[in-house]
Amino acid sequence: MLFKQQALLRQKLFVLGSLAIGSVLYLVARVGTLDRLQPICPVESRLAPPEPAQIPLRSLQFKRGLLHELRKGNATREQIRLHNLVQQLPRAIIIGVRKGGTRALLEMLNLHPAVVKASQEIHFFDNDQNYARGMDWYRGKMPFSFPHQITIEKSPAYFITEEVPERIFKMNSSIKLLIIVREPTTRAVSDYTQVLEGKERKNKTYHKFETLAVDGNTCEVNTKYKAVRTSIYTKHLERWLKYFPVEQFHIVDGDRLITDPLPELQLVERFLSLPSRISQYNLYFNATRGFYCLRFNIVFNKCLAGSKGRTHPEVEPSVLAKLQRFFHPFNQKFYQITGRTFSWP
Ligand code: A3P
Repeated sequence: MLFKQQALLRQKLFVLGSLAIGSVLYLVARVGTLDRLQPICPVESRLAPPEPAQIPLRSLQFKRGLLHELRKGNATREQIRLHNLVQQLPRAIIIGVRKGGTRALLEMLNLHPAVVKASQEIHFFDNDQNYARGMDWYRGKMPFSFPHQITIEKSPAYFITEEVPERIFKMNSSIKLLIIVREPTTRAVSDYTQVLEGKERKNKTYHKFETLAVDGNTCEVNTKYKAVRTSIYTKHLERWLKYFPVEQFHIVDGDRLITDPLPELQLVERFLSLPSRISQYNLYFNATRGFYCLRFNIVFNKCLAGSKGRTHPEVEPSVLAKLQRFFHPFNQKFYQITGRTFSWP
């Protein structure tokens, strides 16, 4: 009898024990399940973020470092893919004028976080051999950029080369065109100085500016001399106007870009429909160089190469005056067409 009661008690204890263990196991299991069902982070954050309408300019500036690395060849294809970098055809071109300050303008515009420059002069539209290589070749010469940035290239030979306007028009009829000009006689002397330096480097002699710019027989300005022809801005511009309306050009004052660059750059920002981002902080006058230099940030600044800002040779004042008189009517026409007046003689 006693044995039977003890067996019953053991059975009850077993059932109770089993129930208790079962409950504990159930609770453990339930807590575990709940844990697993609980969202790790809020649902919204697991959805793809909405596409930003425009990459904020500040973040573009931040990513400029990567573009720089790419240019130096230090960034990988994977980084290019990851950051959605592309080689874009230029949306604006500095078409000239040679010795007008084209390099300074390009470098200064490159201070803008939404601008990426093609470092080299590409000479695609003015060189038949390059042009025959096609648009993919041209695009391949462009720097990597973020899709919302604009690429700018400069090749000053475009302005004076016959075939170029039509070729650029065929690529993009709404492209923005920048022309930087200086007082025409000064530009011609600057042009001469560059050629002279090239000759001297090769230990060659060269004519004096006066004998090139003035025809010895007629005593008239020598219009066959290239440095003179290039400074007849209106003649070249008129060829361009057969393809592009005048609103698609912006004329930059190259003389003012030397002495006071910021207002000129702000006008270009507006022409390119870019928010104003280049500030006085980005430009500082370097007394040793005698020119404004560029400040990208607290650690990186640079001046243009020594080949920019050469000392010009002395030119006979009567020759300078003759040239100024010669250019005068062409200048008047240039002001009339462009709507930008300069205080050139
Ligand atoms: P000079 O060498 O006659 O002084 P380009 O780049 O089209 O060849 O133009 C060269 C000219 O850019 C130079 O002509 C120089 O005067 C001018 N320039 C304008 N801003 C400059 C800058 N910040 N640093 C150096 N040269 C500058």
